[in-house]
Amino acid sequence: MDSFLISPNGPLKGSVQISGAKNAVLPVMAAAMLADGVSKISNVPQLKDTKTMSDVLRVTGCRIKQNENDLSIDSSDINHLEAPYELVKTMRASFYVLGPLVAKFGKCRVSLPGGCAWGPRPVDLHLKGLEALGAKINVTHGYVEALCDGRLKGNTFSFPISSVGATANILMAATLAEGTSILQNSSIEPEITALANYLIEMGAEISGVGTRTLIVKGVEKLKPGNGQTIADRIEAGTFLAAAAITRGKVKVTAMVPEHQGALLEVFKNIGCEISIGENWVELDAENKELMPTHITTLPYPGFPTDMQAQLMAVLATVKGTSSVRDTIYNDRFKHVSELERLGAEISLKEDTAIINGGNELTGAQVMASDLRASAALVLAGLVAKGQTEISRIYHLDRGYENFEGKLSKLGAKLERVHKS
Ligand code: EPZ
Repeated sequence: MDSFLISPNGPLKGSVQISGAKNAVLPVMAAAMLADGVSKISNVPQLKDTKTMSDVLRVTGCRIKQNENDLSIDSSDINHLEAPYELVKTMRASFYVLGPLVAKFGKCRVSLPGGCAWGPRPVDLHLKGLEALGAKINVTHGYVEALCDGRLKGNTFSFPISSVGATANILMAATLAEGTSILQNSSIEPEITALANYLIEMGAEISGVGTRTLIVKGVEKLKPGNGQTIADRIEAGTFLAAAAITRGKVKVTAMVPEHQGALLEVFKNIGCEISIGENWVELDAENKELMPTHITTLPYPGFPTDMQAQLMAVLATVKGTSSVRDTIYNDRFKHVSELERLGAEISLKEDTAIINGGNELTGAQVMASDLRASAALVLAGLVAKGQTEISRIYHLDRGYENFEGKLSKLGAKLERVHKS
C-alpha cells in the first residue's frame, strides 16, 4: 500500500487546473445505462472511483472505453442486471445503477453499500423513492432486489431530508416512468443539476432544474448522451485550503466560482484575500495573520461536508478557538485523532469539533481513513515541522487526480512511496 512522505517547503505559489468532478461523473455514468447505444462523457477524471464505476457497468454488459479524460459507454447489450457486493462495498456510488436498471429492465439486484470509514450510510430514501414509483423492493442476503411489472409509474415523492444520492437515483428512474413525477425537496448540489442537464441531453423531459422541485415527464426511450463533466468544487476547495494553510498565494483555474459561495465566505472570514474571475479563484494568505471561525456544514449551497476535514486542518494552524459542526454526518471525524498526532489540539463534542488552534504542528506517521480525511492530513503535512508519513493513501486516489503532481507544481515537497 502506498504512502506519502511530506516535508514543509514554505508557502504554496502558482496556479493549478482543476479536474472534472468525481461526484458529477459517477451518476452520469450510471445514467448512460438508460439509453441503448454509445454515450460519451468528456473531462472525466482518471480516479480509482471512476475505474470502479466502469467495472460495475462492465459487469452488467456495458462496454467502456476511456481515452485519457474521454469516456464512452456502450449500453446496447446489458445482459446481467446485478451489481455485486465485491464492487459496491468499495464504492457507495455503485448504488446509482439501481434506478436506471429497474427503470429500463423492470428488475435488478444491487448489493447494499454498507457503511464507510466514518459510520452508517443508509439507503432507505433511495428505496422509498423507487417504491413511490411502483417498484417492489425486497432486501435480502445483503442485496436489494427491485422488481416492476412493465414501466415504473410517475408519482409525487418528497425527500424527507436532502439526499444527493437518492435524488440522483430517483431522478434517473423517473425519466423512463409512465407519466409525470414531482420530486420535492430534491438536492440542488451542482452535481445534480449537471446530471439533470445530461439526462435532458439524452431526451429526458425535466423541468425545475436547479430547484428543490424537479418535474419529470417520463418518456419511453432515451438516446445516448454526450456531455462534459463539470469542475470538481471539492478538489478546487482543497487546493484553496492548501494555499491558506501554507499562507501562500494560489490561483485555482478551470473551476466554477459560483459553486464555492459558502467556502469562499469562510476563507474571507478568516482573513484570506479572495479574487474571483470567470473560471478561476485566487486565494492570497501571504504574511496574513488568519483568524479563528465557526463552521457548520449544510446541504448546498451551505458549507459542504466534504470540505470540513480540510478546513479543520487549516484552523488547527490559526491561533484561537474555532469549531466545525457537521450536520450531514455527525460522526465524520476520523481525521481528528490523526491531526492530533501532528500536534493539533481538538476536542469532540457530539457533532462538533472544537479546535484550539495555533500550536506548532510536528511531522509524524499518520494513517488515512477516508478520502477527505486523507486530504486534510496532506494539508497538515505541508506545514508540520519535520517529515510526515501518511499511509493508506489509496483513499486519496479515489477522488483526487494527480494530487501529488499538482501539489508539487505549487512548490510542495512530497513523494509517493510504494510499499508492498
Ligand atoms: C454524496 O453522498 C457524495 N458522494 C458525498 O461525497 C457527500 O459527502 C454527500 O453527498 C453529501 O453532500 C457522491 O456524490 C458520490 P447523501 P451521498 O445521500 O449521496 C442521509 C466524497 O467525499 N441519507 O446526500 O451518499 C445520509 O446518511 C463523498 O466525495 C439517509 O438517511 O450523501 C446523510 O446524513 C463522501 N438515507 C445525508 O442523508 C438515504 O437513503 C446526506 O447523504 C440517503 C442518505
